[in-house]
Amino acid sequence: MDNLYVLKFGGNAIRGKEGLDRLASDISVLVKSGAKVVLVHGGGPEISEEMERRGLKPTKVCGVRVTDAAALEVAESVLRRINADVVESLKARGIDAVGFPAHFCSLCAKKPPMEVSEGGSPRKVDLGLVGEVVGVDSGVLEDLLNEGVLPVIYPIGKDSEGTMLNVNADTMAAGIAAGIGCSEMVAITDVPGILKDVSDPSSKIDSLTVEEAEALIADGTISGGMIPKVEACINVLKAGVASVRMVDGRSCGGGVLSSGGTVIKR
Ligand SMILES: Nc1ncnc2c1ncn2[C@@H]1O[C@H](COP(=O)(O)OP(=O)(O)OP(=O)(O)O)[C@@H](O)[C@H]1O
Ligand SMILES: [Mg+2]
Repeated sequence: MDNLYVLKFGGNAIRGKEGLDRLASDISVLVKSGAKVVLVHGGGPEISEEMERRGLKPTKVCGVRVTDAAALEVAESVLRRINADVVESLKARGIDAVGFPAHFCSLCAKKPPMEVSEGGSPRKVDLGLVGEVVGVDSGVLEDLLNEGVLPVIYPIGKDSEGTMLNVNADTMAAGIAAGIGCSEMVAITDVPGILKDVSDPSSKIDSLTVEEAEALIADGTISGGMIPKVEACINVLKAGVASVRMVDGRSCGGGVLSSGGTVIKR
């Protein structure tokens, strides 16, 4: 779809009413310029905090949450609550938004066990109830967008048997961006972009190729939650989307959605 932006934000980047309002302000500028927007959100820190409150131990492997039935229940309820807050903030800015779980517009499958090589010995880790996107119902999204409605999606998917799956929000945004086709996917996160040194915000890389991004994962420069994010960006580019960008959500409210950050190119 022309002039469509798939935006994704995480729970560290945008938090609380004030953060959501700054994001809504930037989105309303985009929408008023005639762009269409699909918004996908995560909620990593809030999910981890709620798990801890319930005496559960949050575990991540290469930036992806290991999810058992109890963790899935927490993720679903926390994401549903955040989703309602996001929709409310957009509506307060005059944007017609509707929120729903990703299984309304996509089909997922359980992610196969992940190969990890910590401490030099490679092993496979089963992530549990974690999904990846295998299909997108673009029609559902296009109908909403053509009606002037902004879809706000939280990344709880289902497989073909109806089993609920937790999906990394970057992975979900990428699946949707690739499935519907868009002008640009923008991942709004809590760092200025891809950093050469995570502890130095001034070491941002303005632009890099897919090969360069893959090399930074292989040599460990890119770690944690940045791994699924960059992999998601690479998949979107390979699916034919022209541009993917990563921007700092802490600068939202200042037009950060349309410039700056790190661009990954084919
Ligand atoms: N080379 C790197 N450059 C920038 N950030 C990096 C790098 N390597 C690892 N990171 C980490 O990746 C994090 C971003 O991913 P993370 O999954 O934590 O957030 P998110 O995806 O925005 O939110 P959520 O997971 O809630 O959707 C950064 O906060 C940073 O700590
Ligand atoms: Mg993440």
